[in-house]
Amino acid sequence: MTKTQYFTATSVDGFIADPDNSLTWLFQVDRGGVDNFPAFFDGVGAMCMGATTYVWCLEHMEPQMWQQYYADTPCWVFTHRELPAVPGANLAFVSGDVAPVHDEMVKAANGKNIYLVGGGELVGRFADQDRLDEIILGVASVTLGGGAPVLPRRLLSDRLNLTDVMHHGQFVQLTYELRSARE
Ligand SMILES: NC(=O)c1ccc[n+]([C@@H]2O[C@H](COP(=O)([O-])OP(=O)(O)OC[C@H]3O[C@@H](n4cnc5c(N)ncnc54)[C@H](OP(=O)(O)O)[C@@H]3O)[C@@H](O)[C@H]2O)c1
Repeated sequence: MTKTQYFTATSVDGFIADPDNSLTWLFQVDRGGVDNFPAFFDGVGAMCMGATTYVWCLEHMEPQMWQQYYADTPCWVFTHRELPAVPGANLAFVSGDVAPVHDEMVKAANGKNIYLVGGGELVGRFADQDRLDEIILGVASVTLGGGAPVLPRRLLSDRLNLTDVMHHGQFVQLTYELRSARE
C-alpha cells in the first residue's frame, strides 16, 4: 500500500536549512559511511517539493545529478511562480490545495510510496489533511538557531509513534508513523 513519507535531515533544534537556505552545514556532518537515501528512494513512485527546495536543486544540482538521484520519477513542484525546468526531469508545476495533487501522486506512484521532499510548511499541509503516513528524520549533530522549520505543526504523542532508530556517524535516523487524526 502506498505510504506518504517525509524523508529529511534536520538540525537538533529542528531546522532543515539555515536562515540563508544553505545546506552547507549538513554536508559537513559525518554520515559514518552510510547513505540511506538509495534504499529509501527504491520504494518511491512519486515525489513533490516546494519552490524554495526546487530552486535550491536548480542552483546546486547539475541536470545529470537530478537524473542520478530521481531518474524519471514524477515530481510535483508547488509554486506560484514560473520556474525553469530541470532538463530531462519529469516535472509538474502546481499550486494551491495539496489534496488533489496528492490524489494524482497516488495514481502515478502505482503502489509505490510518495516522497515529500519539503519544506516543512508544505508537508504540514499534507499532515493537516491526514495525508502523511511516515516521517523519516535524520538528526544531524548541529544546532542552527534559526532557519526553515522541519515541520511547524503540533503533533502529539497520540499521533506520532516511533518505529525505528538507527545511528550512523553523527546522525540518528528516527522513523515515526503518523496515526490518523480520525482514529
Ligand atoms: N535538510 C534537508 O534534508 C532538506 C530537505 C528539503 C529541503 N531542504 C531545504 O529547506 C528549505 C525549505 O524551504 P521553505 O521552508 O521555503 O519550503 P519550500 O516548501 O521548499 O518552499 C516554500 C515555497 O513553495 C511555494 N509553495 C509552497 N506551498 C505551496 C502551495 N500550496 N501552492 C503554491 N506554492 C506553494 C511558495 O513559493 P512561491 O509562492 O514563491 O512560489 C513557498 O514560499 C530549502 O532551503 C531547502 O533547500 C532541506
